[in-house]
Amino acid sequence: MILVAGGTGRLGSLVVGRLVSRGLEVRVLTREPQQALHLAADQVQVMTGDVRDRESLGRATAGVDVVVSAVHGFVGPRGISPATVDRDGNANLVDAARVVGADFVLMSTVGADARSPMELFRMKHAAEQYAVASGVRTTIVRATAFVELWIDLLSKTAGRSGRPVVFGQGDNPINFVSVIDVAALVERAITDPATRGETFEIGGPDNLTFNDLARAVQTAGGRDRPPRHVPSAVLHLMAATIGHVKPELGRQARATLAMDRVDLTFDAAPIHRVYYDLPMTSVTEVLGLSTV
Ligand SMILES: NC(=O)c1ccc[n+]([C@@H]2O[C@H](COP(=O)([O-])OP(=O)(O)OC[C@H]3O[C@@H](n4cnc5c(N)ncnc54)[C@H](OP(=O)(O)O)[C@@H]3O)[C@@H](O)[C@H]2O)c1
Repeated sequence: MILVAGGTGRLGSLVVGRLVSRGLEVRVLTREPQQALHLAADQVQVMTGDVRDRESLGRATAGVDVVVSAVHGFVGPRGISPATVDRDGNANLVDAARVVGADFVLMSTVGADARSPMELFRMKHAAEQYAVASGVRTTIVRATAFVELWIDLLSKTAGRSGRPVVFGQGDNPINFVSVIDVAALVERAITDPATRGETFEIGGPDNLTFNDLARAVQTAGGRDRPPRHVPSAVLHLMAATIGHVKPELGRQARATLAMDRVDLTFDAAPIHRVYYDLPMTSVTEVLGLSTV
């Protein structure tokens, strides 16, 4: 039995689908069972729980061989944060896996580091450290930014005004990976016990600026107007003011400021030398375009 915490999410849903189609037994942990309605109900056990609630994890991990963490607390709100979910919640999952003798597969981020300017990356680093020190047989999968998420956000804002919203200047190149490719690697990590002790890093073939991506989203949507920009000064102000009342908004403002200046480029080739049959989906393919 494989427990997927975050099995209702963008990545987790694809991972669950891949495991089910291999005929494996899958249990999904969710705070809200309604979120799991799109999963194959007859083939997936859905269990209510929260990674912040150790008791619920005790119930969810009964009889489990591999615990998968595809959760994050980046967008909040109220008590949901990288500290409570990505650091402490993942530590709870590791502890629960240890009790039942299960292996652990942790979804993390390329750039996870104690000194990162991004809280999420610091908390992912803490989770990695905890899992490795725990003695639980662990595989870590780090990914760059999921392009489908950013395409959705840009498309939504473009859909309303005809112009996608870009935070900051949007001219810093960033590596984007398709969640399809990440799901294929996570499936490999779950099903191949020989990967325990490994840390894999996966990115996509494209290092694009947000302005590039916004233009590509416009082309795919049959629009041609340039993106609107939320100036960096507004993001700084947001972080310093409303960010105190609504920490998730402060966190998002600080993260977008970091994404505007930190080196987030990545060479996708190495993992494909290890797993030559992993898909490598381009932004062009995700958008159904002939070129970006
Ligand atoms: N998005 C990216 O660009 C990116 C890049 C690199 C790595 N990652 C990592 O990849 C993984 C999946 O990301 P995603 O974008 O696919 O996520 P997503 O679609 O936003 O879904 C987040 C998931 O986390 C679960 N979750 C959040 N708080 C929880 C809690 N307290 N207890 C239990 N479950 C909780 C949610 O489950 P319910 O709402 O059903 O409870 C949901 O299934 C995450 O670990 C993320 O950090 C993402």
